[in-house]
Amino acid sequence: MQTRKLGYSDLNITNIGLGTWAIGGGGWKFAWGPQDDKESIAAIREAVDIGINWIDTAALYGLGHSEIVVGKAIKGMKEKPIIATKCCRCWDEKRRIFNSLKKDSIRSEVEASLRRLRVDVIDLYQIHHPSPDEDIEEGWEAIAKLIKEGKIRYAGVSNFSVEQLKRIQPIHPVASLQPPYSMLERGIEDELLDYCEKNNIGVIVYSPMQRGLLTGKFSKERVQNLPNDDHRRKNIQFQEPQLSVNLELVESLRPVAKKNNITLAQLALAWVLRRKEVTAAIVGARNQSQIQETAAAGDVKLTEDDIETIERLLNR
Ligand SMILES: NC(=O)c1ccc[n+]([C@@H]2O[C@H](COP(=O)([O-])OP(=O)(O)OC[C@H]3O[C@@H](n4cnc5c(N)ncnc54)[C@H](OP(=O)(O)O)[C@@H]3O)[C@@H](O)[C@H]2O)c1
Repeated sequence: MQTRKLGYSDLNITNIGLGTWAIGGGGWKFAWGPQDDKESIAAIREAVDIGINWIDTAALYGLGHSEIVVGKAIKGMKEKPIIATKCCRCWDEKRRIFNSLKKDSIRSEVEASLRRLRVDVIDLYQIHHPSPDEDIEEGWEAIAKLIKEGKIRYAGVSNFSVEQLKRIQPIHPVASLQPPYSMLERGIEDELLDYCEKNNIGVIVYSPMQRGLLTGKFSKERVQNLPNDDHRRKNIQFQEPQLSVNLELVESLRPVAKKNNITLAQLALAWVLRRKEVTAAIVGARNQSQIQETAAAGDVKLTEDDIETIERLLNR
């Protein structure tokens, strides 16, 4: 698989990374319905076997469960994949989620992540959300100290604006930004991509298939029948009137995928990777066959004609 250098770091990551949010399992506020750990572990090992060299997780996903599953899956691997995880989104004993960027909180979060992942060092540690906004400098300083102590190799952020990046850059250089990016969510094209390129910040985009919606495997019926604890039921892109617009767009993309002899999921990924500022796409998968299909998108190159056709369809 193709690799790209992540910002100023010496991490050479494959242009497709495995996302493990859904692998956190069911029964919490932002779950994706029930998930079998055995399938998750098989998906993670399959990803590594086919050449994906990094995994994105977060303490938040399944309130620690995703990190535990990742830790189990990579245990004993001769060459471990690069592990990226996140802090800031915490939970209390009643499993209520809150944000903290206080230095003591970050310090205990990193220790807990190291334990759950069963590793000595975290390759990429990211602030999950710039919140509370007034504490981003304190959180970033704490992370810079943890790098000096050898618990973290590189640090990045997620969901930050250009203004917030500018505030923390003088404290310690940002290795990567993790923003949302898909055909349905293009906000980063305005200024973030340009800022990251000019400042040597890697860009690893999340939800590139809009949480499964762009794979062509969704219908109104499937949305209606999603499990009660699948957070997508409450997501605006999966609700009317937007849902019908989105499903119509997906249908209109089918001929472009067919012409290239690729699937809709691969088209959605090749489309985000068309931008030179994007280092890699983080691709969620819940089983082996999903990641087998999507990993192949890393080698797909769309023509200018295809990109223009897609642009016309999106504008419509
Ligand atoms: N930093 C942040 O705030 C943030 C936010 C969101 C995500 N992320 C990260 O980015 C990763 C990727 O984003 P995402 O998981 O939200 O969305 P995504 O990658 O756009 O979609 C993943 C979902 O699509 C479905 N899918 C995957 N492969 C498929 C295939 N071949 N055919 C049909 N359906 C397929 C699966 O769900 P079903 O099978 O259930 O449909 C899967 O969970 C996350 O796992 C997480 O690591 C970070």
